Amino acid sequence: ADNLPCSFVIFGATGNLASNKLLPALYHLEAAGRLAESLTIIAFARRDWTTENWREHMRETLDGKIKGSLDTPVFERFIARFSYHKGDLNDVASYRALAERLPPESACSGAVFYLAIKPAEFGAVIQNLEAVGLNKPRGLHRVVIEKPFGEDLESAQMLNRLLHQYFDEEQVYRIDHFLGKETVQNLLVFRFANTLIEPLWNRNFIDHVQITVAESIGIEDRADYYDRAGALRDMLQNHLMQLLTVVAMEPPAALEADALQDEKVKVLRSIRPIAKRAVHAHALRAQYTHGKIDGKPVVGYQQEENVEPNSITETFVAAKFYIDNWRWRGVPFFLRTGKRMPHQTSMIAIRFRHPPQQLFRETPLETIDPNWILLSIQPDESMRMEIHVKQPGLDMDTRLMQMNASFLKTDEQTLDAYETLLLDVIEGDRSLFLRFDEIEWAWRVVDPILNHWAVEREYIPTYAAGNWGPADANRLFDSDDQVWRNEL
Ligand code: BG6
Repeated sequence: ADNLPCSFVIFGATGNLASNKLLPALYHLEAAGRLAESLTIIAFARRDWTTENWREHMRETLDGKIKGSLDTPVFERFIARFSYHKGDLNDVASYRALAERLPPESACSGAVFYLAIKPAEFGAVIQNLEAVGLNKPRGLHRVVIEKPFGEDLESAQMLNRLLHQYFDEEQVYRIDHFLGKETVQNLLVFRFANTLIEPLWNRNFIDHVQITVAESIGIEDRADYYDRAGALRDMLQNHLMQLLTVVAMEPPAALEADALQDEKVKVLRSIRPIAKRAVHAHALRAQYTHGKIDGKPVVGYQQEENVEPNSITETFVAAKFYIDNWRWRGVPFFLRTGKRMPHQTSMIAIRFRHPPQQLFRETPLETIDPNWILLSIQPDESMRMEIHVKQPGLDMDTRLMQMNASFLKTDEQTLDAYETLLLDVIEGDRSLFLRFDEIEWAWRVVDPILNHWAVEREYIPTYAAGNWGPADANRLFDSDDQVWRNEL
């Protein structure tokens, strides 16, 4: 199509996000033949490198991060698109030189500027792009902003004002890559294409909802960013909050960006604000100390490179929210995420209520596990329903049966979240990106927690690496029969 951009500029090209996610995703798109022949990619970074150095760096970076081994013809095609641009994010001269590298307007229909950098640097890039005229032509150039968008409500609003000063909303792509994950989109189908599910999906049948995103990795080489952000800003305000909205929202009027975003915003607006005095009862944070992952010793957060001495940045956060609307009033949503947990697993666990009557005397009610629906996002995309059947034999005993469904047939290929979303940016499809009011309301939900923690600066509870967070993460629950689901 005519309006496909012909340049893709990655700011922060040597950074963690580019190396771990963007470059592998672009490589896979190349391998799948999804990148237009005319697309050139510019790697913008500070190191004093030649394009030859960059080539070597890419080879090393992709090796081990991509599916399978590096395919030489694909790699050659891929690398041929790249040029390396040495530049300083804060120096307008670097942008002037960048503008000169981009093909003239007549020969090309626009560029994508991907801000794969620390949030603290977003403002400078936006201003410098404008200073050299790269925000125009407005219809063509696009800017992709990574999360976290701002570091609280106020800074998010300021950032948005700055963006709108120089760019039209149609040019802005606020990314939350969890929305690109298959299972998250599948949740919409699961909920709204099955009459079996929807009638049960409310306060009458559901006891509570748990959303867990556990990672076994530590903070890698990102202390620079992470030590200022912490788990609440890095994961909960965006990824987990998005999962919550998709679980809780009403059916949209249509499967279109605005209609979906409207419903998501309604959910966020209905979340009961956490009062200052109630923060302790609704949220807890912790930091990992040294421990073992997969039997191998790992250092504690405080010992990671570039972490401030005595930092109280949280690497684990758990919180409880209530959504005060007709569907969900009284149903707690427990959200939890952490680094250096036993293994990588992301899932949404829906716990149903106990049956109202005790009919099976051999199996006392309290020993009957209630029904669960478990939707796994990572590492596998699957669904499990736990229901009771009769234990064979003379007694009317029950036992739990698990119905497992893997969403994928083994021969099906899916696109990874970043592959999907990068393709959307290139093709100009904004439906899986965030509208600013979603971000704004999500900050309103978490701001009281941030504010409270900001004054309690002396102490943070800890958990040894390789655990499911601190022992007292259970204190968020309302009743004794509620427990965290760690495994599928
Ligand atoms: C990013 C966070 O947004 O998501 C990282 O900044 C985190 O800290 C990552 O590791 C997890 O994403 P995924 O897709 O690898 O589970």
